[in-house]
Amino acid sequence: MTGSAHSPVPRHVAIIMDGNGRWARRRRLPRTAGHQAGVTAVRKTVEHCARKGIEVLTLFAFSSENWRRPPEEVSVLMRLFEMTLSRETRRLDEHGIRLRVIGDRSAFSKNLQQRIAEAEAQTAGNDRMTLLIAANYGGRWDITQAAQQLARQVAAGVLKPEEIDEAALAAHLSFAGLPEPDLFIRTGGELRISNFLLWQLAYTELYFTDVLWPDFDEAELDKALAEYSRRERRFGHTSEQLIRQASLAVSSV
Ligand code: IPE
Ligand code: IPE
Ligand code: MG
Repeated sequence: MTGSAHSPVPRHVAIIMDGNGRWARRRRLPRTAGHQAGVTAVRKTVEHCARKGIEVLTLFAFSSENWRRPPEEVSVLMRLFEMTLSRETRRLDEHGIRLRVIGDRSAFSKNLQQRIAEAEAQTAGNDRMTLLIAANYGGRWDITQAAQQLARQVAAGVLKPEEIDEAALAAHLSFAGLPEPDLFIRTGGELRISNFLLWQLAYTELYFTDVLWPDFDEAELDKALAEYSRRERRFGHTSEQLIRQASLAVSSV
């Protein structure tokens, strides 16, 4: 780590918000109390990211594997998602934040799908920050659905198989048009990706913390951002090449 030639503030931060259940268990509360408490951390994180000038924030709210949880917990999570959308959309709008939900929403109730569509429509004109909520999202699902779209174009004769390159596939992922994540954060102490963004994390800086999600706040986010600013992003180059490029850039100003 020799300091950074990259911008000190990430354009896109992606977070696995983990540890709600353990936070509740430590307080002898039901797991769902941890999910409730997690909403406060979401609000703090969203607003702090907007203040810091981050362009895109992606939050993993519900994975395609989380349907395996007890049905009562799944239904509390769905209700909480719906309530939070209803209660917080106006606040997001006031802060100039555009909300988008990525993931397979067809599995959600009609009501929840409607709420999502309303929140997206209400905030569609905002451009201070984009908040992506990954819900019923899986990295493998995303790549698979992109492959299906390309296959349909090939079958329809509008695309040749040899025209399928990385850019063509990326253009059909849920993130199309947005910068790839610069910084990934996982709270809760687990050191895994859990089928979150797979394609998009190829060159993302990874940051793991033991802090449980409901305890995550502005100070914890600042720690992650400080760590990010110290990383050297080489993208395959050598450290010497980056130092030379940076000094050329400085001398040309
Ligand atoms: C993350 O917290 C929230 C969701 C997956 C919805 P967990 O519920 O996974 O909390 P732990 O990992 O059991 O502590
Ligand atoms: C990942 O957390 C999904 C979300 C935070 C929404 P999990 O707690 O479900 O991950 P695993 O199953 O422990 O890997
Ligand atoms: Mg967990």
